[in-house]
Amino acid sequence: MGAATLPVASLTARADTFPSRPITMIVPFAAGGPTDVLARIVAEYMRRSLGHPVVIENVTGASGTVAGLRASRAAPDGYTITIGHWGTHCLNGAIYQLQYDVRAFEPVALIASGPQLVIGRPDLPAQNLKELIAWLKANGDTATSGTAGPGSGAHVAGVFFQQLTATGFSFVPYRGAGPALNDLMAGHIDIMFDQASNSLAQVRSGTVKAYAVTASTRLASAPEIPTVDEAGLPGLYIAYWHGIWAPKGTPGEIVSTLSAAVMAALAEPNVHQRFAELGQEIPPSDKQVPAALRSHQAAEIEKWWPIVRSANIKAE
Ligand code: MLT
Repeated sequence: MGAATLPVASLTARADTFPSRPITMIVPFAAGGPTDVLARIVAEYMRRSLGHPVVIENVTGASGTVAGLRASRAAPDGYTITIGHWGTHCLNGAIYQLQYDVRAFEPVALIASGPQLVIGRPDLPAQNLKELIAWLKANGDTATSGTAGPGSGAHVAGVFFQQLTATGFSFVPYRGAGPALNDLMAGHIDIMFDQASNSLAQVRSGTVKAYAVTASTRLASAPEIPTVDEAGLPGLYIAYWHGIWAPKGTPGEIVSTLSAAVMAALAEPNVHQRFAELGQEIPPSDKQVPAALRSHQAAEIEKWWPIVRSANIKAE
């Protein structure tokens, strides 16, 4: 008998002793990228409350949809959970024809939110966002923007940027923002719309150029980077939120145990410090809880699906 068909009594009994072995957290993108980094920080601290390791498994491909299918089909017993974000648990539902529903997971916790940076390779001649737009207009035939996959947040933000600036450039998909950033630093691609958490360290060390932050306020951890409003592209706001989910049907007691472990991790001063350095804002605890993640995801879907559909963004 599959776990999904176990009688409620069996699941309740399991919930009493949960967890009794390591938990797998699926990360839908490449190791070393922004989602992976957040997952590893939270997993390390979840272990302290759960008493068992939370093991990261990177399941990459197609902007997180390979991982999404896998997570949706995992046994709903709490031993497989997934981290995801604005792209995987919102955009993908509007862009891909999926064999699962991005809304059909049990929310565990909303963990953090942060903006993107508009960044360029280190030797790009443009010194500010206006010069970047002019450079892209002059070099549209050859210019390239790295993404974390077709239809990913980096791709969607890039399409909005193209529409706002009347620029054209090609998108180059990777299995995550980590490998895309490596190619940007090596000069193989020109620009990225990248989660700040991925590229801030390289901006600080001068190995990539930062042109703007996609928010109405500057980042406390990088106040030298202008906002899109200040840099000349008002309103291109992208808030890249991350959350953790369990497969649909995971018993409530198990979700509560997992949620408490994530929230305990987020309450750790060291986690606060590491997230702040990555430009991540941890929501107040009443906005971390499963019900808050469920409403946040629903509101984001209501906001973004019509925008993405009317922009005709395709996963190709
Ligand atoms: C990653 O970890 O590679 C990213 O979260 C991908 C993305 O920006 O969507």
